[in-house]
Amino acid sequence: MNQLPKDPPAPAAPATNSEILSRYIAMTKGSAARYTKSVEVFPSGVTHDGRYIPPHPIYVTHAKGSRKWDVDGNEYVDYVGGHGALLLGHTHPEVMLAVVAQATRGTHLGANGDLELRWGELVREMVPSAEMVRFTGSGTEASMMAFRLARTFTGKTKIVRFRGHFHGWHDHVAFGVTGHFDGSPTPGVPAAVAAETLLCDPNDGPGVTALLEGREDIAAVIIEPTGSTYGQVPIRPEFLKLLRELTRRRGVVLIFDEVVTGFRVSPGGAQAEYGIVPDMTLLAKILAGGLPGGAVVGRRDIMEALDFVATAKKGREKIHHPGTYNANPLSAAAGVATLEIIRDTDANARARAYAQRWRDGVRAIVIEEGLPWGVYGTFTGCHIFTNPEGMPIDPRSFDPYSLRYDQLKIKRGGTVVTRLRLAMRLEGVDIAPWPGGPASATHTDRDLDQTLSAFRVAVRMLKAEGEIIWPKG
Ligand SMILES: Cc1ncc(COP(=O)(O)O)c(C=O)c1O
Repeated sequence: MNQLPKDPPAPAAPATNSEILSRYIAMTKGSAARYTKSVEVFPSGVTHDGRYIPPHPIYVTHAKGSRKWDVDGNEYVDYVGGHGALLLGHTHPEVMLAVVAQATRGTHLGANGDLELRWGELVREMVPSAEMVRFTGSGTEASMMAFRLARTFTGKTKIVRFRGHFHGWHDHVAFGVTGHFDGSPTPGVPAAVAAETLLCDPNDGPGVTALLEGREDIAAVIIEPTGSTYGQVPIRPEFLKLLRELTRRRGVVLIFDEVVTGFRVSPGGAQAEYGIVPDMTLLAKILAGGLPGGAVVGRRDIMEALDFVATAKKGREKIHHPGTYNANPLSAAAGVATLEIIRDTDANARARAYAQRWRDGVRAIVIEEGLPWGVYGTFTGCHIFTNPEGMPIDPRSFDPYSLRYDQLKIKRGGTVVTRLRLAMRLEGVDIAPWPGGPASATHTDRDLDQTLSAFRVAVRMLKAEGEIIWPKG
Protein backbone atom coordinates (compact mmCIF):
# COMPACT_ATOMS: atom_id res chain seq x y z
CA MET A 1 0.00 0.00 0.00
CA ASN A 2 0.94 3.52 -0.72
CA GLN A 3 2.72 4.98 2.36
CA LEU A 4 1.32 8.33 3.40
CA PRO A 5 2.68 10.58 6.12
CA LYS A 6 1.09 10.75 9.55
CA ASP A 7 2.22 14.35 9.78
CA PRO A 8 2.55 16.95 7.05
CA PRO A 9 6.06 17.47 5.68
CA ALA A 10 7.49 20.93 6.40
CA PRO A 11 8.78 22.98 3.47
CA ALA A 12 12.27 21.74 2.74
CA ALA A 13 15.32 23.92 3.27
CA PRO A 14 17.36 24.49 0.12
CA ALA A 15 20.95 23.28 0.15
CA THR A 16 23.36 25.89 1.44
CA ASN A 17 25.49 25.96 -1.71
CA SER A 18 22.58 27.22 -3.79
CA GLU A 19 22.90 30.44 -5.79
CA ILE A 20 19.14 30.92 -5.35
CA LEU A 21 19.58 30.76 -1.60
CA SER A 22 22.61 33.04 -1.40
CA ARG A 23 20.98 35.68 -3.61
CA TYR A 24 17.75 35.44 -1.62
CA ILE A 25 19.62 35.94 1.65
CA ALA A 26 21.48 38.89 0.16
CA MET A 27 18.30 40.64 -1.01
CA THR A 28 16.26 40.05 2.17
CA LYS A 29 18.66 41.04 4.94
CA GLY A 30 16.04 43.11 6.77
CA SER A 31 13.60 40.21 6.73
CA ALA A 32 16.31 37.84 7.98
CA ALA A 33 17.07 40.15 10.92
CA ARG A 34 13.41 40.33 11.86
CA TYR A 35 13.01 36.57 11.54
CA THR A 36 15.82 36.05 14.04
CA LYS A 37 13.71 37.99 16.56
CA SER A 38 10.44 36.34 15.48
CA VAL A 39 11.61 32.81 16.26
CA GLU A 40 12.02 33.92 19.88
CA VAL A 41 8.44 35.18 19.98
CA PHE A 42 6.44 32.85 17.71
CA PRO A 43 6.74 29.07 17.17
CA SER A 44 8.71 28.75 13.92
CA GLY A 45 8.71 32.55 13.81
CA VAL A 46 5.34 32.69 12.05
CA THR A 47 1.70 33.40 12.87
CA HIS A 48 0.19 31.15 10.15
CA ASP A 49 1.74 27.82 9.15
CA GLY A 50 1.46 28.72 5.46
CA ARG A 51 3.89 31.61 5.94
CA TYR A 52 6.75 29.37 7.03
CA ILE A 53 9.52 29.03 4.47
CA PRO A 54 13.21 28.36 5.04
CA PRO A 55 15.55 30.14 5.33
CA HIS A 56 13.14 32.95 6.34
CA PRO A 57 9.92 34.57 5.16
CA ILE A 58 9.74 38.08 3.77
CA TYR A 59 8.44 40.85 6.04
CA VAL A 60 5.97 42.94 4.07
CA THR A 61 5.33 46.59 4.85
CA HIS A 62 2.55 47.57 2.46
CA ALA A 63 0.65 46.55 -0.63
CA LYS A 64 -1.46 48.06 -3.40
CA GLY A 65 -3.48 46.38 -6.13
CA SER A 66 -1.51 43.35 -7.32
CA ARG A 67 1.79 44.38 -5.71
CA LYS A 68 3.47 44.45 -2.32
CA TRP A 69 6.76 45.66 -0.86
CA ASP A 70 9.04 44.18 1.79
CA VAL A 71 11.19 45.79 4.49
CA ASP A 72 14.22 45.65 2.18
CA GLY A 73 12.42 47.69 -0.46
CA ASN A 74 11.85 44.75 -2.81
CA GLU A 75 8.67 44.94 -4.91
CA TYR A 76 6.68 41.79 -5.72
CA VAL A 77 3.76 40.82 -7.91
CA ASP A 78 1.61 39.17 -5.27
CA TYR A 79 -0.13 35.82 -5.71
CA VAL A 80 -0.73 35.14 -2.03
CA GLY A 81 -3.68 37.51 -2.25
CA GLY A 82 -4.33 37.71 1.48
CA HIS A 83 -4.59 33.88 1.58
CA GLY A 84 -7.27 34.18 -1.10
CA ALA A 85 -9.26 36.96 0.57
CA LEU A 86 -8.43 39.68 -1.95
CA LEU A 87 -10.21 39.19 -5.25
CA LEU A 88 -10.13 42.97 -5.69
CA GLY A 89 -6.43 43.23 -4.87
CA HIS A 90 -4.83 45.12 -2.01
CA THR A 91 -6.18 48.39 -0.61
CA HIS A 92 -9.00 48.77 -3.12
CA PRO A 93 -9.90 52.49 -2.85
CA GLU A 94 -13.66 52.01 -2.32
CA VAL A 95 -13.13 49.26 0.23
CA MET A 96 -10.56 51.34 2.12
CA LEU A 97 -12.83 54.40 2.16
CA ALA A 98 -15.65 52.31 3.61
CA VAL A 99 -13.38 50.87 6.32
CA VAL A 100 -11.88 54.24 7.28
CA ALA A 101 -15.32 55.89 7.36
CA GLN A 102 -16.57 53.18 9.68
CA ALA A 103 -13.44 53.29 11.86
CA THR A 104 -14.16 56.92 12.68
CA ARG A 105 -17.74 56.01 13.67
CA GLY A 106 -16.79 53.10 15.91
CA THR A 107 -14.96 49.82 15.60
CA HIS A 108 -17.31 47.88 17.84
CA LEU A 109 -20.76 49.12 18.69
CA GLY A 110 -21.90 46.05 20.60
CA ALA A 111 -25.27 46.42 18.90
CA ASN A 112 -27.18 45.70 15.71
CA GLY A 113 -26.51 48.09 12.84
CA ASP A 114 -27.40 48.93 9.26
CA LEU A 115 -24.09 47.64 7.91
CA GLU A 116 -24.57 44.07 9.13
CA LEU A 117 -28.10 44.07 7.70
CA ARG A 118 -26.87 45.29 4.31
CA TRP A 119 -24.06 42.71 4.45
CA GLY A 120 -26.43 39.85 5.25
CA GLU A 121 -28.88 40.95 2.55
CA LEU A 122 -26.09 41.00 -0.02
CA VAL A 123 -25.03 37.48 0.96
CA ARG A 124 -28.63 36.29 0.59
CA GLU A 125 -28.96 38.00 -2.76
CA MET A 126 -25.72 36.56 -4.17
CA VAL A 127 -25.34 33.06 -2.67
CA PRO A 128 -28.08 30.64 -3.81
CA SER A 129 -28.12 28.51 -0.61
CA ALA A 130 -28.27 31.52 1.75
CA GLU A 131 -31.83 31.58 3.01
CA MET A 132 -30.51 32.74 6.38
CA VAL A 133 -27.12 34.03 7.49
CA ARG A 134 -25.15 33.86 10.76
CA PHE A 135 -21.89 35.80 10.80
CA THR A 136 -18.90 34.35 12.66
CA GLY A 137 -15.37 35.48 13.43
CA SER A 138 -13.69 33.24 10.82
CA GLY A 139 -14.13 30.35 8.41
CA THR A 140 -13.05 27.94 11.15
CA GLU A 141 -15.85 29.17 13.37
CA ALA A 142 -18.33 28.88 10.50
CA SER A 143 -17.28 25.26 10.04
CA MET A 144 -17.74 24.51 13.76
CA MET A 145 -21.22 26.01 13.73
CA ALA A 146 -22.21 24.21 10.51
CA PHE A 147 -21.47 20.84 12.13
CA ARG A 148 -23.42 21.78 15.24
CA LEU A 149 -26.40 22.90 13.15
CA ALA A 150 -26.33 19.76 10.98
CA ARG A 151 -26.19 17.51 14.04
CA THR A 152 -29.01 19.38 15.72
CA PHE A 153 -31.14 19.20 12.57
CA THR A 154 -30.59 15.50 11.85
CA GLY A 155 -30.12 14.17 15.39
CA LYS A 156 -27.07 12.29 14.03
CA THR A 157 -23.38 12.80 14.72
CA LYS A 158 -21.05 11.60 11.97
CA ILE A 159 -19.48 14.03 9.54
CA VAL A 160 -18.23 12.79 6.16
CA ARG A 161 -15.16 14.62 4.87
CA PHE A 162 -12.83 14.15 1.90
CA ARG A 163 -9.14 13.43 2.26
CA GLY A 164 -7.07 16.56 1.75
CA HIS A 165 -10.01 18.95 2.13
CA PHE A 166 -9.46 21.79 4.57
CA HIS A 167 -12.26 23.27 6.66
CA GLY A 168 -10.33 25.25 9.29
CA TRP A 169 -8.24 23.99 12.15
CA HIS A 170 -10.71 22.92 14.86
CA ASP A 171 -10.71 19.41 16.33
CA HIS A 172 -13.14 17.78 13.88
CA VAL A 173 -11.18 18.82 10.80
CA ALA A 174 -7.57 18.85 12.04
CA PHE A 175 -6.61 15.46 10.59
CA GLY A 176 -6.91 13.93 7.13
CA VAL A 177 -5.85 17.19 5.50
CA THR A 178 -2.07 16.97 5.12
CA GLY A 179 -1.61 13.66 6.96
CA HIS A 180 -3.47 11.15 9.16
CA PHE A 181 -5.52 9.92 6.22
CA ASP A 182 -6.52 6.86 8.22
CA GLY A 183 -8.63 9.18 10.39
CA SER A 184 -6.34 8.97 13.42
CA PRO A 185 -6.22 12.18 15.48
CA THR A 186 -3.48 14.79 15.23
CA PRO A 187 -1.82 15.98 18.49
CA GLY A 188 -4.32 17.42 20.94
CA VAL A 189 -7.41 16.03 19.22
CA PRO A 190 -9.35 13.51 21.33
CA ALA A 191 -9.73 10.11 19.63
CA ALA A 192 -13.46 10.23 20.39
CA VAL A 193 -13.79 13.43 18.34
CA ALA A 194 -11.79 12.01 15.44
CA ALA A 195 -14.01 8.94 15.47
CA GLU A 196 -16.99 11.15 14.61
CA THR A 197 -15.46 11.93 11.22
CA LEU A 198 -15.55 9.51 8.29
CA LEU A 199 -12.96 10.14 5.57
CA CYS A 200 -13.55 9.38 1.88
CA ASP A 201 -11.37 9.79 -1.19
CA PRO A 202 -12.26 12.78 -3.35
CA ASN A 203 -14.17 11.90 -6.55
CA ASP A 204 -14.82 8.35 -5.28
CA GLY A 205 -18.47 8.00 -6.25
CA PRO A 206 -18.87 4.32 -5.35
CA GLY A 207 -17.07 4.83 -2.02
CA VAL A 208 -19.20 7.71 -0.83
CA THR A 209 -22.38 6.05 -2.12
CA ALA A 210 -21.65 2.88 -0.15
CA LEU A 211 -20.87 4.95 2.95
CA LEU A 212 -24.02 7.05 2.81
CA GLU A 213 -26.27 4.14 1.89
CA GLY A 214 -24.76 1.81 4.43
CA ARG A 215 -25.09 3.96 7.56
CA GLU A 216 -27.86 5.70 9.45
CA ASP A 217 -25.69 7.90 11.69
CA ILE A 218 -24.45 10.53 9.20
CA ALA A 219 -25.38 14.15 9.89
CA ALA A 220 -23.48 15.91 7.12
CA VAL A 221 -21.14 15.71 4.17
CA ILE A 222 -18.74 18.63 3.74
CA ILE A 223 -16.65 19.40 0.66
CA GLU A 224 -14.57 22.13 -0.95
CA PRO A 225 -16.60 22.22 -4.17
CA THR A 226 -13.79 22.90 -6.63
CA GLY A 227 -11.43 20.56 -4.77
CA SER A 228 -8.94 20.88 -1.95
CA THR A 229 -6.64 23.90 -1.92
CA TYR A 230 -8.76 25.66 -4.52
CA GLY A 231 -8.66 22.84 -7.04
CA GLN A 232 -5.16 21.53 -6.39
CA VAL A 233 -6.92 18.18 -6.28
CA PRO A 234 -9.87 19.06 -8.49
CA ILE A 235 -13.40 17.79 -7.88
CA ARG A 236 -15.56 16.79 -10.83
CA PRO A 237 -18.85 18.71 -11.01
CA GLU A 238 -20.58 15.33 -11.56
CA PHE A 239 -19.28 14.25 -8.16
CA LEU A 240 -20.97 17.27 -6.57
CA LYS A 241 -24.18 16.35 -8.39
CA LEU A 242 -23.94 12.81 -7.04
CA LEU A 243 -23.39 14.16 -3.51
CA ARG A 244 -26.41 16.42 -3.88
CA GLU A 245 -28.65 13.53 -4.97
CA LEU A 246 -27.30 11.11 -2.37
CA THR A 247 -27.54 13.48 0.57
CA ARG A 248 -31.04 14.58 -0.39
CA ARG A 249 -32.19 10.98 -0.65
CA ARG A 250 -30.53 9.99 2.63
CA GLY A 251 -31.62 13.01 4.68
CA VAL A 252 -28.01 14.12 5.17
CA VAL A 253 -27.04 17.80 5.23
CA LEU A 254 -24.77 18.80 2.34
CA ILE A 255 -22.28 21.55 3.26
CA PHE A 256 -20.21 23.37 0.65
CA ASP A 257 -17.11 24.98 2.11
CA GLU A 258 -16.95 28.10 -0.03
CA VAL A 259 -14.50 29.94 2.22
CA VAL A 260 -12.17 30.22 -0.79
CA THR A 261 -14.55 29.78 -3.74
CA GLY A 262 -17.31 32.06 -2.41
CA PHE A 263 -17.57 35.30 -4.44
CA ARG A 264 -14.42 34.17 -6.30
CA VAL A 265 -15.46 31.46 -8.75
CA SER A 266 -18.46 33.63 -9.58
CA PRO A 267 -20.43 36.29 -7.64
CA GLY A 268 -22.53 33.43 -6.23
CA GLY A 269 -19.56 31.09 -5.70
CA ALA A 270 -19.12 27.55 -7.02
CA GLN A 271 -22.74 26.67 -6.26
CA ALA A 272 -24.00 29.37 -8.62
CA GLU A 273 -21.43 28.43 -11.26
CA TYR A 274 -22.38 24.74 -11.17
CA GLY A 275 -26.09 25.19 -10.42
CA ILE A 276 -25.86 22.85 -7.42
CA VAL A 277 -27.34 24.24 -4.21
CA PRO A 278 -26.12 22.74 -0.92
CA ASP A 279 -28.11 22.84 2.33
CA MET A 280 -25.47 24.95 4.05
CA THR A 281 -22.43 26.95 2.98
CA LEU A 282 -19.36 28.23 4.81
CA LEU A 283 -18.11 31.66 3.79
CA ALA A 284 -15.13 33.79 4.87
CA LYS A 285 -12.16 35.51 3.13
CA ILE A 286 -13.69 37.59 0.28
CA LEU A 287 -16.93 37.76 2.30
CA ALA A 288 -15.25 40.26 4.63
CA GLY A 289 -13.25 42.09 1.96
CA GLY A 290 -9.84 41.29 3.42
CA LEU A 291 -10.79 41.86 7.07
CA PRO A 292 -11.54 39.05 9.54
CA GLY A 293 -14.95 37.43 9.30
CA GLY A 294 -16.94 34.41 8.28
CA ALA A 295 -20.50 33.17 8.00
CA VAL A 296 -22.51 30.01 7.97
CA VAL A 297 -25.52 30.33 5.70
CA GLY A 298 -28.22 27.91 4.65
CA ARG A 299 -31.72 26.57 4.78
CA ARG A 300 -34.10 28.36 7.12
CA ASP A 301 -35.28 25.11 8.74
CA ILE A 302 -31.65 24.24 9.66
CA MET A 303 -30.59 27.76 10.67
CA GLU A 304 -33.67 28.10 12.89
CA ALA A 305 -31.85 26.15 15.60
CA LEU A 306 -30.18 29.53 16.31
CA ASP A 307 -33.51 31.37 16.58
CA PHE A 308 -34.93 32.17 20.03
CA VAL A 309 -38.57 32.23 18.92
CA ALA A 310 -38.56 29.39 16.40
CA THR A 311 -36.91 26.96 18.83
CA ALA A 312 -39.23 28.01 21.69
CA LYS A 313 -42.26 27.41 19.48
CA LYS A 314 -41.01 23.91 18.71
CA GLY A 315 -40.13 23.26 22.34
CA ARG A 316 -36.46 22.79 21.36
CA GLU A 317 -33.32 24.04 23.02
CA LYS A 318 -31.64 26.83 21.07
CA ILE A 319 -27.98 26.62 20.00
CA HIS A 320 -26.12 29.26 21.99
CA HIS A 321 -23.99 31.45 19.76
CA PRO A 322 -22.23 34.59 20.99
CA GLY A 323 -18.97 35.80 19.40
CA THR A 324 -17.43 39.20 20.14
CA TYR A 325 -16.43 39.85 16.54
CA ASN A 326 -19.46 38.43 14.73
CA ALA A 327 -20.37 40.97 12.02
CA ASN A 328 -17.79 43.42 13.32
CA PRO A 329 -18.52 46.86 11.80
CA LEU A 330 -15.12 47.19 10.09
CA SER A 331 -15.46 43.75 8.50
CA ALA A 332 -19.04 44.55 7.55
CA ALA A 333 -17.96 47.81 5.91
CA ALA A 334 -15.25 46.05 3.88
CA GLY A 335 -17.59 43.17 3.12
CA VAL A 336 -20.42 45.34 1.84
CA ALA A 337 -18.11 47.43 -0.36
CA THR A 338 -16.41 44.31 -1.74
CA LEU A 339 -19.56 42.31 -2.43
CA GLU A 340 -21.23 45.27 -4.15
CA ILE A 341 -18.24 45.65 -6.48
CA ILE A 342 -18.25 41.93 -7.22
CA ARG A 343 -21.99 41.95 -7.85
CA ASP A 344 -21.91 45.04 -10.07
CA THR A 345 -18.68 44.68 -12.07
CA ASP A 346 -16.81 42.09 -14.11
CA ALA A 347 -14.24 41.50 -11.33
CA ASN A 348 -14.67 37.71 -11.38
CA ALA A 349 -14.44 37.53 -15.16
CA ARG A 350 -11.27 39.64 -15.18
CA ALA A 351 -9.56 37.50 -12.56
CA ARG A 352 -10.61 34.34 -14.39
CA ALA A 353 -9.33 35.65 -17.72
CA TYR A 354 -6.01 36.59 -16.13
CA ALA A 355 -5.65 33.16 -14.52
CA GLN A 356 -6.30 31.47 -17.86
CA ARG A 357 -3.51 33.51 -19.50
CA TRP A 358 -1.24 32.84 -16.51
CA ARG A 359 -1.79 29.07 -16.74
CA ASP A 360 -1.34 29.08 -20.53
CA GLY A 361 1.83 31.15 -20.25
CA VAL A 362 3.38 28.98 -17.54
CA ARG A 363 2.46 25.81 -19.43
CA ALA A 364 4.08 27.16 -22.62
CA ILE A 365 7.32 27.78 -20.70
CA VAL A 366 7.18 24.33 -19.09
CA ILE A 367 6.86 22.84 -22.58
CA GLU A 368 9.64 25.01 -24.04
CA GLU A 369 11.95 24.16 -21.17
CA GLY A 370 11.13 20.44 -21.56
CA LEU A 371 10.02 20.04 -17.93
CA PRO A 372 8.00 16.99 -16.80
CA TRP A 373 5.58 19.25 -14.93
CA GLY A 374 1.83 19.80 -15.07
CA VAL A 375 0.09 23.18 -15.11
CA TYR A 376 -3.61 23.29 -14.37
CA GLY A 377 -6.39 24.98 -12.46
CA THR A 378 -9.87 26.33 -12.87
CA PHE A 379 -11.50 29.74 -12.48
CA THR A 380 -9.02 32.18 -10.89
CA GLY A 381 -6.43 29.58 -9.84
CA CYS A 382 -3.10 28.39 -11.19
CA HIS A 383 -1.42 25.20 -9.97
CA ILE A 384 2.05 24.04 -10.95
CA PHE A 385 2.70 20.35 -10.30
CA THR A 386 6.45 19.93 -9.95
CA ASN A 387 6.36 16.14 -10.10
CA PRO A 388 8.59 15.19 -7.15
CA GLU A 389 8.25 11.48 -7.94
CA GLY A 390 9.65 11.95 -11.46
CA MET A 391 6.64 10.52 -13.29
CA PRO A 392 6.69 10.61 -17.09
CA ILE A 393 4.48 13.67 -17.53
CA ASP A 394 3.79 15.43 -20.82
CA PRO A 395 2.79 19.02 -19.96
CA ARG A 396 0.83 19.31 -23.22
CA SER A 397 -1.66 16.68 -22.12
CA PHE A 398 -1.32 16.71 -18.32
CA ASP A 399 -4.60 15.73 -16.67
CA PRO A 400 -4.74 16.24 -12.88
CA TYR A 401 -7.59 13.73 -12.65
CA SER A 402 -5.11 11.03 -13.68
CA LEU A 403 -3.31 11.41 -10.32
CA ARG A 404 -4.43 10.58 -6.79
CA TYR A 405 -5.02 13.25 -4.14
CA ASP A 406 -1.84 12.28 -2.33
CA GLN A 407 0.27 12.63 -5.47
CA LEU A 408 -1.17 16.04 -6.28
CA LYS A 409 -1.25 17.41 -2.75
CA ILE A 410 0.83 15.56 -0.20
CA LYS A 411 3.83 14.55 -2.27
CA ARG A 412 3.84 17.69 -4.38
CA GLY A 413 6.52 19.49 -2.37
CA GLY A 414 10.17 19.03 -1.58
CA THR A 415 13.04 21.40 -2.15
CA VAL A 416 11.95 22.09 -5.72
CA VAL A 417 8.87 23.99 -4.52
CA THR A 418 10.81 25.95 -1.90
CA ARG A 419 13.47 26.88 -4.41
CA LEU A 420 10.95 27.76 -7.09
CA ARG A 421 9.29 30.17 -4.65
CA LEU A 422 12.60 31.72 -3.59
CA ALA A 423 13.80 32.01 -7.19
CA MET A 424 10.54 33.70 -8.20
CA ARG A 425 11.03 36.19 -5.36
CA LEU A 426 14.48 37.00 -6.74
CA GLU A 427 12.64 38.12 -9.87
CA GLY A 428 9.98 40.09 -7.97
CA VAL A 429 7.12 37.59 -7.92
CA ASP A 430 5.67 36.01 -4.76
CA ILE A 431 3.67 32.88 -5.51
CA ALA A 432 1.55 30.91 -3.05
CA PRO A 433 3.03 27.67 -1.68
CA TRP A 434 0.63 25.47 -3.77
CA PRO A 435 2.84 26.40 -5.85
CA GLY A 436 0.84 28.86 -7.93
CA GLY A 437 -1.89 30.98 -6.48
CA PRO A 438 -5.10 32.84 -6.93
CA ALA A 439 -5.31 35.71 -9.43
CA SER A 440 -7.07 38.94 -8.57
CA ALA A 441 -9.05 41.37 -10.68
CA THR A 442 -6.15 43.83 -10.39
CA HIS A 443 -3.41 41.75 -12.03
CA THR A 444 -2.29 43.45 -15.24
CA ASP A 445 -0.54 42.62 -18.51
CA ARG A 446 2.65 44.01 -16.99
CA ASP A 447 2.26 41.66 -14.02
CA LEU A 448 1.79 38.73 -16.37
CA ASP A 449 4.89 39.59 -18.42
CA GLN A 450 6.97 39.90 -15.26
CA THR A 451 5.51 36.68 -13.82
CA LEU A 452 6.25 34.65 -16.92
CA SER A 453 9.75 35.96 -17.38
CA ALA A 454 10.41 35.34 -13.65
CA PHE A 455 9.15 31.80 -14.07
CA ARG A 456 11.45 31.16 -17.02
CA VAL A 457 14.47 32.50 -15.13
CA ALA A 458 13.48 30.51 -12.02
CA VAL A 459 13.16 27.16 -13.79
CA ARG A 460 16.48 27.70 -15.54
CA MET A 461 18.07 28.30 -12.15
CA LEU A 462 16.41 25.16 -10.81
CA LYS A 463 17.77 23.21 -13.76
CA ALA A 464 21.24 24.60 -13.18
CA GLU A 465 21.08 23.63 -9.50
CA GLY A 466 19.95 20.08 -10.32
CA GLU A 467 16.59 20.53 -8.63
CA ILE A 468 14.32 19.22 -11.40
CA ILE A 469 13.34 15.61 -10.84
CA TRP A 470 13.46 14.00 -14.26
CA PRO A 471 11.68 10.75 -15.15
CA LYS A 472 14.02 7.75 -15.15
CA GLY A 473 15.08 6.18 -18.43
C1 LIG B 1 -11.54 25.96 2.30
C2 LIG B 1 -11.28 26.61 3.62
N1 LIG B 1 -12.14 26.40 4.62
C3 LIG B 1 -11.98 26.98 5.83
C4 LIG B 1 -10.90 27.80 6.07
C5 LIG B 1 -10.72 28.41 7.43
O1 LIG B 1 -11.01 29.77 7.39
P1 LIG B 1 -10.32 30.75 8.45
O2 LIG B 1 -8.86 30.80 8.14
O3 LIG B 1 -11.04 32.06 8.23
O4 LIG B 1 -10.60 30.19 9.80
C6 LIG B 1 -9.98 28.06 5.06
C7 LIG B 1 -8.81 28.93 5.29
O5 LIG B 1 -7.89 29.03 4.53
C8 LIG B 1 -10.16 27.45 3.80
O6 LIG B 1 -9.29 27.63 2.80
